[in-house]
Amino acid sequence: MIEIYDLRRIYRMGDIEVRALDGVSLEIEKGEFLGIMGASGSGKTTLLHMLGLLDEPTSGRIVIEGTDLSLLSDYEKAMFRLYKLGYVFQDYALVPDLTVMENVSLTAMLRKDRTEGQYRKDSVEILQKIGLYDRRDHLPRELSGGQQQRVSIARAMVNKPDILFADEPCANLDSENSRMVLELFREINEEMQQTIVMVSHEDWHKDYFHRIVRLKDGKVIADGTNGSSAH
Ligand SMILES: Nc1ncnc2c1ncn2[C@@H]1O[C@H](COP(=O)(O)OP(=O)(O)OP(=O)(O)O)[C@@H](O)[C@H]1O
Ligand SMILES: [Mg+2]
Repeated sequence: MIEIYDLRRIYRMGDIEVRALDGVSLEIEKGEFLGIMGASGSGKTTLLHMLGLLDEPTSGRIVIEGTDLSLLSDYEKAMFRLYKLGYVFQDYALVPDLTVMENVSLTAMLRKDRTEGQYRKDSVEILQKIGLYDRRDHLPRELSGGQQQRVSIARAMVNKPDILFADEPCANLDSENSRMVLELFREINEEMQQTIVMVSHEDWHKDYFHRIVRLKDGKVIADGTNGSSAH
């Protein structure tokens, strides 16, 4: 379970203060497929960054499976990310000088509980699933935006993380590929009880989410199933 208590993230730029997150409290159950929606600038990426241990809140607390993230050292944070979390970035964040295969294998390689045989097999499997195995020796810049996005999804999923955070993973995909990614998410969510927190702009994605949280100006304005407002 993910518990979020009164989370705030304030960016200060000179005299201007932007309240990117302005008091968000939420509980996300294990095995939930949660959609985070809201207009551009509403704080979706900021929230995901905090949950993914990529940035620190100005105040408030996040507890994941009993671990208070604010109490972790930098090293413990890195290990927590490596062993428990997968993250799909809005801008992919692939390593430009590594091939598709290397980008995907990298996160698996860093883990001490994976043999070389295992991580190679896992990397091949996930690339096949995402339809990019034939591009395994290409560099990111030799791929289309949508293909790079799929590589970043494969990289986030290769370690079969307990929790997958995905920031607009379908933003550059056509509807066919978007559906493929959403079906893949649904499959791992159902088969492995993996918790998925996904940011989306697209209304039709709602059908895949168990629950939708809507943000506006850094606050939760709706929280419910398939768009209905529970509170
Ligand atoms: N590094 C930063 N420095 C200053 N302000 C920031 C920074 N990152 C985000 N913001 C501001 O915080 C607010 C929330 O941004 P965020 O990226 O979380 O929005 P978003 O909901 O993900 O939007 P989008 O749908 O466009 O990706 C915005 O007003 C943004 O300008
Ligand atoms: Mg964003």
